[in-house]
Formats: sequence, C-alpha cells, structure tokens
Amino acid sequence: MSRISVVVNGTQQSHEVEPRQLLVHFLREVLGLTGTHVGCDTSQCGSCTVLLDGRTVKSCTVLAVQADGSEVLTVEGLASGGRLHPIQESFWEEHGLQCGFCTPGILLAAVGLLRDDPQPGEQAIRSGIEGNLCRCTGYHNIVKAIQSAARKMAATSSGAGPARAPASTGGRP
Ligand code: FES
Ligand code: FES
Repeated sequence: MSRISVVVNGTQQSHEVEPRQLLVHFLREVLGLTGTHVGCDTSQCGSCTVLLDGRTVKSCTVLAVQADGSEVLTVEGLASGGRLHPIQESFWEEHGLQCGFCTPGILLAAVGLLRDDPQPGEQAIRSGIEGNLCRCTGYHNIVKAIQSAARKMAATSSGAGPARAPASTGGRP
C-alpha cells in the first residue's frame, strides 16, 4: 500500500491505496464521489473525466498514486454555496444535459475546454469534447450550452469558475 495526499474539490485527502488502484476507483470507492463514472474499459467514453491540476484527464487511465500531491476537481466540486457552476446552469438552460452517466464527464471536459479557450468557436467546442461519447445526442444543445457558459463566464469579474474554486487551482473552476 502507498499513502497518497490529494486535494479533491478543495479538501485535503490522505489515504493508503494499492499502487494499482485507478484514480476513478479511488474517487468512487474511497472518497465516495460517485459522480465520476466508468463507462468503458477502453479509455474511450470520457465518463470518468476529471480535472487533474487543471487539466482534463480520463481518470480510468490514471493511477491514484500518480495523483499524489495534485489537485482533482470532480463534478461534485463544481457547484458552490448552493449555486450551480455556470457550466451547469448553461447545460440546464440550453437542454444540454444528457444522462447521469455521461454528463459529469462532459461538464468537466467543458470546464477544461473553457479554461484553455474562454471563447471557443463551434468547431473548437466539438473538438474539445470529442473524447466524451454519448450515443444518444447530436451534441447540438451541448455546444449551445458551452457557448452560453462561455458568455456567462466572460461576463463575470473573475472571468471563470464558481464563487468557491479550490484555492490551489489558481482560481480556475
Ligand atoms: Fe474512462 Fe470510459 S471509463 S474513458
Ligand atoms: Fe448519457 Fe447518452 S450516454 S445520454
């Protein structure tokens, strides 16, 4: 077993893990953060997407020990103080929400996309979420939701993110 220390959604976590344990299983089974899902065994679907030190990763492809000393943001960390993150608001308003299995990963992919490119065009959005698969949508409303979120986030003084982002993410959502 190896001890790891990770800041997850702004909270310091320290746990013994098996060196082979995947980050997604650490999040779900050790921390009880079941909003991050395993939708495939082939690193294809993106339903396990989280932010690791501000970058989107498929947490089924990362070992928990590799996250030692890092910061993780999951879907549970998006809302703050009873307020939805702008990306959550926009998915709601633009009917971009899909099922509970794929949506958390899509939301995190969108947050990561807007962090890197605050005003993406439609093609950039489609490219940015191409790692998140859903067989049930044409992605049209998802694209609209991300465009809407980009406008909302640009209109805020902070430029991005919820009121309470984990401090060590540098203010990023
Ligand atoms: Fe990670 Fe499908 S569960 S990509
Ligand atoms: Fe979630 Fe299609 S996989 S709605």
